[in-house]
Amino acid sequence: MATMAIPLCFSLSTVTTTTSTCITRKLPCCSFSSSSSRQFHYFHSQFQTKTQKSCLLFSTSSSSSSSPIEFDLSPPSIDLDLLETMKELGAEKISEDGVVETFGNDHDAIQAAYNGVAVVDLSHFGRIRVTGEDRVQFLHNQTTANFEALSEGQGCDTVFVTPTARTIDIAHAWVMKSAITLLVSPITCRSITEMLMKYIFFADKVEISDITKQTCFFVLTGPKSNQVMEDLNLGELVGQPYGTHRHYSVNGTPVTIGVGSVIAEDGFSMLLSPATAGSVWKTLLSHGAVPMGATAWERFRVFQGRPAPGKELSDEFNVLEAGLWNAVSLNKGCYKGQETISRLITYDGVKQKLYGIELPAPAEPGSPITIDGKKVGKLTSYAVGKTESEHFGLGYIKKRTASAGDKVLIGDTVGTLVEVPYLARQTPLTKSSTA
Ligand SMILES: *[C@@H]1O[C@H](CO)[C@@H](O)[C@H](O)[C@H]1NC(C)=O
Repeated sequence: MATMAIPLCFSLSTVTTTTSTCITRKLPCCSFSSSSSRQFHYFHSQFQTKTQKSCLLFSTSSSSSSSPIEFDLSPPSIDLDLLETMKELGAEKISEDGVVETFGNDHDAIQAAYNGVAVVDLSHFGRIRVTGEDRVQFLHNQTTANFEALSEGQGCDTVFVTPTARTIDIAHAWVMKSAITLLVSPITCRSITEMLMKYIFFADKVEISDITKQTCFFVLTGPKSNQVMEDLNLGELVGQPYGTHRHYSVNGTPVTIGVGSVIAEDGFSMLLSPATAGSVWKTLLSHGAVPMGATAWERFRVFQGRPAPGKELSDEFNVLEAGLWNAVSLNKGCYKGQETISRLITYDGVKQKLYGIELPAPAEPGSPITIDGKKVGKLTSYAVGKTESEHFGLGYIKKRTASAGDKVLIGDTVGTLVEVPYLARQTPLTKSSTA
């Protein structure tokens, strides 16, 4: 694929910004233009975007009578294939299913996630679209978050649990005008889709579709991601609550951009059409985002402490042990797993807690964690640390046996328990709290 040198500027029309400002910087990339044929709803405001030639234009438009954002589910005509673009731009190791494992820069990418801005392609994660007029009530019944409390344009994390509140996966949900879009882990997408379909009763007006193949998903993370958004004229999202999302169009195809980068509260997520994914990737890199592959992303996940299915999330652990308090509503009424959750809280039944573990050497997930020869927990994830000589893990520790700062043993390795950002942000509920 030939490298295209299309003059680029992003611009965005918003309710408050009447003129689209083009960035004067000369950057390689694509042309985001507002699509006049496609109307995007956005809240209740009504405004029209201007098309600017040879500008990468992120546009929003809105009309109360407009149809909801629609991703074209037919094979897209791709102008800049994402994988080809990523190869051109440094992708080194690509798995059989097309996941870039590394750009050969894992250390720099992780540094960027802490001090700068990194971009990662999570297109292999699952995207499930739930439609039909009973969709809110349905997901309200099937997962832990309070969907009825959310309005269009808002989002949340919610947890899929078993009837006994054992964890299946965390989903990041966007409540759109006529659909709720869920981002789930690659390994759970299929089982969650099937499970949801199984729970649709005869009279329920709910449809479930797996739109993973028809969409791409990027995450921008790190303290400088706000700057990238400002540069792209997407500054209206900066500072909005986690999960807030808005619709734009790029080259006439839809892009939904939300606040939060799945494993960190800073950053942004983008749901976009494969037709423009390559161009957008290039644009983000040209604005200083450091590409991050799946290996570095997994390390970052472990450092952040976001539980993952097959590791921290399984039939072995319940949602409160996993510490996912922010995703759990106690007073929204009945839902799957709710009785168990209520009982766990009422009777102080949460027996273990997830911690980060700083390690001086590698350790094997699944290994027992001990103190004074007694088993107190289990290691669930392991990753090479921020530098090659550091190591980091996640593990469940029995309550009242240890707390942050304490030393534990994994085999012969002495680890130190630490709090991790994703879990530190969670606010435990008590019997009396309302959520
Ligand atoms: C949700 O649960 C309520 C109460 O259990 C039930 O009446 C309702 O039919 C359910 N709705 C859907 C769409 O699952």
